[in-house]
Amino acid sequence: MSAVDVGIGLLGYGTVGSSVHRLLVESGDEIERATGHRLRVVKALIRDKRKERPFPAGDGVLTGDFAELRDDPRITVVAEVMGGLDPAGGYVRELLRAGKPVVSANKQLVAREGSELFAIASEAGVQLRFEASVCAAIPVVKVLRESLVVSNVHRVLGIVNGTTNFILSRMEAGGSYADALAEAQALGYAEVYPNDDVTGADAAAKMAILATVAFGSRVGLGDVECRGITELEPAHVSAAAELGMAVKLVGIATLADGAVDVRVQPAFVDRAHALATVDGAFNAVMLQGDSIREITLEGPGAGGIETASAVVADLVSVVGTAGTGFLQNDACWRELPRLDRGAWRSPFYLHLEVADRPGVLAHVTSRLAANEISVAQLVQHLREGEATLDLILHEAHAGDVHEAAAQMATFPEVLRRPFLAPVITERPL
Ligand code: NAP
Ligand code: HSE
Repeated sequence: MSAVDVGIGLLGYGTVGSSVHRLLVESGDEIERATGHRLRVVKALIRDKRKERPFPAGDGVLTGDFAELRDDPRITVVAEVMGGLDPAGGYVRELLRAGKPVVSANKQLVAREGSELFAIASEAGVQLRFEASVCAAIPVVKVLRESLVVSNVHRVLGIVNGTTNFILSRMEAGGSYADALAEAQALGYAEVYPNDDVTGADAAAKMAILATVAFGSRVGLGDVECRGITELEPAHVSAAAELGMAVKLVGIATLADGAVDVRVQPAFVDRAHALATVDGAFNAVMLQGDSIREITLEGPGAGGIETASAVVADLVSVVGTAGTGFLQNDACWRELPRLDRGAWRSPFYLHLEVADRPGVLAHVTSRLAANEISVAQLVQHLREGEATLDLILHEAHAGDVHEAAAQMATFPEVLRRPFLAPVITERPL
């Protein structure tokens, strides 16, 4: 079979963009064998032409002028691997309107502006794909949209940020938060603004996208309850180890009784649970649905070449379906209400630092009892007139648990703000 040349434009030639080019060059034969097409990067938009590139772009490929890329008649598909909302969003709009399919790795753009972008793409009769925006190398969007299209997925549970998982794995092994973050940045895992990783904003965008695709109803960033790992301390990580658990930043999307709940937060994960063994920059997503029971996908969740693999897969899908009318743009077909945030149920971990004097334990447990919360496990450590209490609470409404913790924070014998995290386990407590 003779190859058909397909011209590719790249918006961005950084960690991911240069890796897309590398894969298209180094795996060109495999792609051609599989598809009959030879994908060639003909233009890549950058800011700084003097920057050294990890993989050479080739003569005349790099440009600082978007119009040069937009107006190049050789370009059939564009990969947006630039990041940010502006100017990336404007460029994607222009390209879609001009009839160019786009694949994007930009979770903030897809989560925040997806509904408008998908509408523009459909209007123009072209595809907007976004596999690389969620969990880098793991093909979870394609699995949800194609393989599980009739499976009625009602729960998505995942570790969806590589940087924070890398930091937490390092902290568990005794490393420091700051050193681990610096290493994650050097390895190309972190966002340009790594605050997006550690505050949970990156994971929240990915969970909004996953929930939208899984449930067929738009979940915006504002719908995601989000806490990152910035308030975590080494004491929480070691308490988890003592309780036979690991601390992970977990995204949980639930469709229950026709209402949607999506949250991202540090969770105490039972060591026997599949998510507990996901280490370093790996991600994992567990999908639960009617006919599938549970499917877990695990793999590299960050990194240039890892993310490029998903971008290339989307490029191949676009090229392979061009002209067939297969658009698969907006995943939304219904509008579901949000579950009241306090109504979400889970077992919880509660960390308290209290004065070591008579009646403190009774005060704490009576507060829990007043909120209908039952204690499953309690570990106490004493040190110089103070006590650290690590409690595992039986399943309860999040609203009741948070209210009890807020009240405890006002007790004179409670010395620091209580720390709460959901517990993820499949074993009875
Ligand atoms: P990066 O290394 O910072 O690369 C960004 C590229 O875009 C650079 O080539 C930069 O040009 C170019 N660029 C940025 N703003 C521009 C502007 N205003 N005009 C022209 N060019 C501009 O970032 P990255 O890590 O590759 O990430 C790119 C996207 O992929 C982001 O949306 C990110 O969230 C997503 N993503 C990244 C990973 C990962 O592990 N890195 C994983 C999944 C998804 P210069 O090179 O000249 O500065
Ligand atoms: N910064 C992101 C992460 C890159 O660490 O998961 C992949 O989206």
